[in-house]
Amino acid sequence: MERLKGLILSGGKGTRLRPITFTSAKQLVPVANRPVLFYGIEAMAAAGIEEIGIIIAPETGDEIRETAGDGSQFGVRITYIVQDAPAGLAHAVLTAEPFLGTDPFVMYLGDNLLQGGITDLVAAFRADAPDALILLTPVPDPEHYGVAELHEGRVVRLQEKPPQPKTDLALVGVYMFTAGIHDAARAIEPSPRGELEITDAIQYLVDAGRRVEPHIVQGWWKDTGRLEDMLEANRLVLDRIERRIDGTLTESACEGRVIIEAGAVLERSTVRGPAIIGAGARLIDAYIGPYTAIGDGCVIQDAEVEHSILLEGSSVRDLGARMESSLLGKDVAIARSLGQPRAYRFLVGDQSEIGIA
Ligand code: G1P
Repeated sequence: MERLKGLILSGGKGTRLRPITFTSAKQLVPVANRPVLFYGIEAMAAAGIEEIGIIIAPETGDEIRETAGDGSQFGVRITYIVQDAPAGLAHAVLTAEPFLGTDPFVMYLGDNLLQGGITDLVAAFRADAPDALILLTPVPDPEHYGVAELHEGRVVRLQEKPPQPKTDLALVGVYMFTAGIHDAARAIEPSPRGELEITDAIQYLVDAGRRVEPHIVQGWWKDTGRLEDMLEANRLVLDRIERRIDGTLTESACEGRVIIEAGAVLERSTVRGPAIIGAGARLIDAYIGPYTAIGDGCVIQDAEVEHSILLEGSSVRDLGARMESSLLGKDVAIARSLGQPRAYRFLVGDQSEIGIA
């Protein structure tokens, strides 16, 4: 098989991660302090893919361009392709047709994380040369995904978010295609949600007698579209980090798998891993519990934070109880206000969620 290109979909509105996604692309929300998008780019680079097209939306595209750049930081070449409207994954493929040409390609949804990367899958795709290779994994809530029916190891039917799924096999957001997918994407009609579904385009290939190979994913897979998924992805990635302390510790302790980036300062604080503390962050009389990612320049003072993600520049001070299972955007400030009257005071953006014990 000739050279393989990469296509990463990084458009979409990220409605389920509002308010974070009002100001930022969902693919840039960090997992263990790195944008989730970077894991997909790295997986492609590791599989030997050198040319990557990234589909971006007009609203969030610039931020993605600035963050991922020309790809040299990953050893790849990135071409940005603007998709004018979020009209579906198959529409994104058609938008990328001038970039893809007739080359086979790997398509990767920019908010997906796949343990173990895609190197073996790319090798299998090259060796078996099917028309398409799809990844499947059993999930407890298949009605939220594309769902596959297999018969004797072959794909017989694919349905996008069926209300009554026939199986629990969800389509994972990583696909491998040959050029026939373009005609399939042109042939299908928009779905009830008004999008050209890649699931329908693959079904078109199946109906046309093309060879669509299923591959059941063995490791974990995460679509990071919702808060719980983000926190879980953070947990799964932090579970694999190696201890590295580059910051400055004063009367402080780091237990287990902890990364303290250069320029971070800890005073009278404890970090219990797995956890990562970003560059220039300051922890003062603080406790950071397992599965927490504290972004660059954050300040935690007289407070306890656990199982949470804090984006850069946020601060948490003087809390009366431990903060947990939370996601804070950039430059968020949370502090207990002393003085009278004892009252909660908020300045909170649209669609924020606050839980008070
Ligand atoms: C998309 C696909 C769906 C697939 C899912 C994986 O859903 O349409 O078939 O199972 O990604 O993340 P969406 O995220 O657009 O709802």
